[in-house]
Amino acid sequence: MKSYNIAVIGGDGTGPEVVAEAIKVLGAAGQKFNLKLNYTHYDLGGARYMRTKEALPDSVVEELRKFPAILLGAIGHPEVKPGILEKGILLRLRFELEQYINLRPVRLYDERFCPLKDKKPEDIDFVVVRENNEGLYTGSGGFVFKGTPHEVAIQESINTRRGVERCLRYAFEYARTRRGGKPWKGLKTEDVAAGKKAQLTLCGKTNVLTYAFDLWERAFHEVGGKDYPDIKRDYAHVDATTMWFVKNPEWFDVIVTDNMFGDIITDLGAMVQGGMGIAAGGNINPQGASMFEPIGGSAPKYTGLGVINPLAAICAGSMMLDFLGEREAAQAIENSVIKVTREKMKSLAAGKMGYTTSQVGDLVAATL
Ligand code: IPM
Ligand code: MN
Repeated sequence: MKSYNIAVIGGDGTGPEVVAEAIKVLGAAGQKFNLKLNYTHYDLGGARYMRTKEALPDSVVEELRKFPAILLGAIGHPEVKPGILEKGILLRLRFELEQYINLRPVRLYDERFCPLKDKKPEDIDFVVVRENNEGLYTGSGGFVFKGTPHEVAIQESINTRRGVERCLRYAFEYARTRRGGKPWKGLKTEDVAAGKKAQLTLCGKTNVLTYAFDLWERAFHEVGGKDYPDIKRDYAHVDATTMWFVKNPEWFDVIVTDNMFGDIITDLGAMVQGGMGIAAGGNINPQGASMFEPIGGSAPKYTGLGVINPLAAICAGSMMLDFLGEREAAQAIENSVIKVTREKMKSLAAGKMGYTTSQVGDLVAATL
């Protein structure tokens, strides 16, 4: 029997409730696929911060580093000033554990839950690979003359060739293997004839951010041209990307982008796939401790009511198993989520599902 040590950060708000359902479903998958998951729970988040005035002790970072995977519920507390917990816990872990990829699958499981007219599951099936360690998120910059009429605020986007290139390589590899080598349906006949199997779209702003995205674009074509001739390279400005997510989501296979643009377009992605109730993501260090989370946040107003949708957290659990190399178990969880979404769920929104949080977890576990 294979065994994995998993760190669990339930965190704030509804985080612990949805993580409990993910653990329930992972347990069912473990029984079926003969996996043992050993959990170590960490008390991090707003409540701990208010108690101790410390968001994330150094010693905890060092402990977390030793796990292959971390399951995270949510970070964010209404009584803590915005930025403290986000920067102090979430971003710090992303940076210190070198989780340089933020992986966000955007898949529509049931057309009833798509806000776009006439779009079907086969139209909305793409993945965003967001750079997760650089860009505008590094905290580079500062104030001059703060609080005076002359004040200046500078916030710099950091893009290193190494950071950009490792992100691009991950995205190319991901595009290559995503369908087990089967060609992407959106390719043109001539692309398939030329041996292309997948498409990677660089999402940027080369017309305005002429330094940052110049580097991205050069690296994209250099790396792709040399090492990934089987992947069709495509480019879209970020503003056009948001338009196409709504108008022609079927145009996308895999998208790679910087940290800030990735943050923005993946919230839009979450909406077109049915909302925050179903959207999951992974903060990935391909060689180290990676962290999986529902992207919906702590939802304070729903806390403790048993109404929050746990499917996103369950999908995060599936992504975690996939990362650990347990493809079959991961796929089985996703298939069960799809079945429950199609056959049982009345809505994906909190309080409207037709079931409680724990009943949804039971349904997925039973389907497995
Ligand atoms: C996300 C979140 C975070 C981000 C916040 C909470 C710092 O919005 O994971 O997308 O901006 O990256
Ligand atoms: Mn975000």
